[in-house]
Amino acid sequence: MKPEVVLYKTLPDDLRARLDAHFTVTTIKGLTPEIVDEHADLFARAEGIIGSSCKVDDALLQKMPKLRAASTISVGYDNFDVDALNQRGIVLMHTPTVLTETVADTMMALVLSSARRVVEVAGRVKAGEWQRSIGPDWFGIDVHHKKMGILGMGRIGLALAQRAHHGFGMPILYNARRHHEEAETRFNAQYCDLDTLLQECDFLCISLPLTGQTHHMIGREQLAKMKPSAILINAGRGPVVDEQALIAALKDKTIHAAGLDVFEQEPLPADSELLKLPNVVALPHIGSATHETRYGMARDAVENLIAALAGKVEKNCVNPQVLR
Ligand code: DGY
Repeated sequence: MKPEVVLYKTLPDDLRARLDAHFTVTTIKGLTPEIVDEHADLFARAEGIIGSSCKVDDALLQKMPKLRAASTISVGYDNFDVDALNQRGIVLMHTPTVLTETVADTMMALVLSSARRVVEVAGRVKAGEWQRSIGPDWFGIDVHHKKMGILGMGRIGLALAQRAHHGFGMPILYNARRHHEEAETRFNAQYCDLDTLLQECDFLCISLPLTGQTHHMIGREQLAKMKPSAILINAGRGPVVDEQALIAALKDKTIHAAGLDVFEQEPLPADSELLKLPNVVALPHIGSATHETRYGMARDAVENLIAALAGKVEKNCVNPQVLR
C-alpha cells in the first residue's frame, strides 16, 4: 500500500501525477483547525504532508501520529514548530536553492523602485499628471555606486551582492552570523557589526529568516541609527522589522523610504498605515513568484517528499539530526 499524503497546495498536473505515482494523495484547502477536524481520519493516517503558507504546530502534529515527513514549498520554514517535529522524529524538507536568483531580482527591483520612485511616478503618469517636463518633485535618488548594506549573507544575500556590486558598482557592507569568505573575495564585501552597517549603508537590504533571534531585530533604536537618506528593503520575513517603528521612522523621515515584500501580517491589511505613505513600495510577497521559480520550488518539494518517505534524504533537509 502506498503511504498517505496530505497536499495543501495546488500543484501543476505533471507534479501532481508524480506525487500520485508514489503516494495516495488527498488535496485539502489549508490546515485550519476546521479543515483538520473535518478530515480527522485522513490526518490520523497521513505519513507525509506537502504545501506552503500554513502553520504546522504542535496541536496539528498531535493529530498526525503517523507523520514521518513534511515538505514545504518554500525556503522559509518559520510556519513549522521545528522543536515539535524533532521531538517526534519528523523530517522537514524545504527548497533552499531554486529560488535564490529570483528573490535577489525582487530585492533589486525594490531597491530601484523605491529609490527612483517608479511605482509612485508611474501612478502619476496614469493619473494624467504628466503635463510638462518634470521637475525635482518627481526626482528620485541614485542607486549606482551607493553603499549596499546586506543583513544576512546567505544564498540570497550573495546573489544580491553580485547584482549590486557587479551590476551597479556598489560597495558592499554586510552583517551576518559569521564572515562570508566568498562574498569578501568575489565582491570585496566588508563585514561590519550591525551598528556600523546601519550607520554607513545607503540601502539596508534584509534577507534574514524569522527566528527567535531575528524577531524585531530592526526596531526604533536601529532605525534611528540609519542615515535620513537611507532606504530599507525587506524581502526576508516581515516580523524581522518592527512595523510600527518602521511606520514612525518613515513618517518622521528618520529614513528616506522603504521597499517591502514581506509584512508582520500577510496579506497586508488594507487599512495599514504603510499603504498611506508615498515613500513605501509594498509588494504582495512576490519574492519567488515567477512561473519558472514557483514550478521549480514545487518540483523540488515533491522530490524532497519522495526522498524523505523513502528514507533517502541527501539534501534540502532542515533537521537532518532526526535522520540519525
Ligand atoms: C520562501 O520560500 O520562504 C519565500 O518567502 C517565498 O517567496
